[in-house]
Amino acid sequence: MCSYKQLLEKVQTLFASENFMGNPAQLYEPIKYTLSLGGKRIRPVLLLAATDLFGGDIEAACPAAIGIETFHNFTLLHDDLMDKSPIRRGQPTVYRKWNENIAILSGDAMNILAWRYFLKQPHKNLHQILSTFEKTSMEICEGQQYDMNFETRDDVTKNEYMEMIRLKTAVLLAGALKIGALYADAPDDDIEQIYNFGIFIGLAFQLRDDLLDAYGDVSTFGKQTGTDIKDNKKTFLLLHAIEKCDKNQQEELRRLFSYTPADPSHKIERVLEIYDSLDIRTDVENEIGKLHSQASTCLDAIHRSNNDKQPLRELAESLLERNV
Ligand code: IPE
Ligand code: IPE
Ligand code: MG
Ligand code: MG
Ligand code: MG
Repeated sequence: MCSYKQLLEKVQTLFASENFMGNPAQLYEPIKYTLSLGGKRIRPVLLLAATDLFGGDIEAACPAAIGIETFHNFTLLHDDLMDKSPIRRGQPTVYRKWNENIAILSGDAMNILAWRYFLKQPHKNLHQILSTFEKTSMEICEGQQYDMNFETRDDVTKNEYMEMIRLKTAVLLAGALKIGALYADAPDDDIEQIYNFGIFIGLAFQLRDDLLDAYGDVSTFGKQTGTDIKDNKKTFLLLHAIEKCDKNQQEELRRLFSYTPADPSHKIERVLEIYDSLDIRTDVENEIGKLHSQASTCLDAIHRSNNDKQPLRELAESLLERNV
């Protein structure tokens, strides 16, 4: 069994030894740039951790691990364009460093590259692995579309929000785990539990991301803060605040989230004042804690020893506390 740290090192070595360049350079340079900037590498680590948990061959799953991270980075290129985000991992986003067309096309190429990595390694479960990947990819598009649709709606419910983040974020963490388990030919009931474990940590992960967007420190988070408020994103923070506040605050919040000023600083400041007066931060932290314990219940149900589950437990905990 590999520890969480060993798995992360393995993933880092894999990326360090890949050369993402090719011709024309204008297509490949942004790919190399993005994949060299690091990031937490959560999805490939989850994939390999699942293979290892069920006694599979990690080496056989390595191309898929690179593939899933390449795919994740593709979604980031397009997401940054959609969200008009200027920085990621502390550096300019691709559409800012180059231009929008470059971000679209290099993103498309990364999506294709991901499939190429998946196809590199023959495996008896390859068809199931690829269908999991295909289903996951389409669900992310659906989630991203809901996320955009919600920007112009003022009646989004918490349930709709949870379904949107299940699609845009959680399914990729869950899919990575399921794919890893398929490389180890794990039994169906365990695959279902590890997938659900991934969904719960994925939901908690996106709630944490929403919290960090409002309260994070730009220098550690590596992304500009306040962008969800600026873009009128219907995050859990907002939906919870609307539920908790009085009628006047409710009207003010609805008004603040219905326009996009050229300089959003006052809008962001005012929204945060309202969140703080309602102690929204504590409530979201509690919600993250609940999702985390639901994730633990799924992990407990898997037919492997407690010791073998340690890397995944550690990873879930690090995600719970993250400020990056
Ligand atoms: C960012 O994902 C997109 C979300 C789902 C919030 P990560 O927070 O995993 O980004 P990196 O890869 O570590 O930069
Ligand atoms: C992430 O949502 C979802 C995907 C990238 C598919 P966000 O828009 O919140 O992610 P960040 O905050 O830009 O990383
Ligand atoms: Mg974004
Ligand atoms: Mg987004
Ligand atoms: Mg975000």
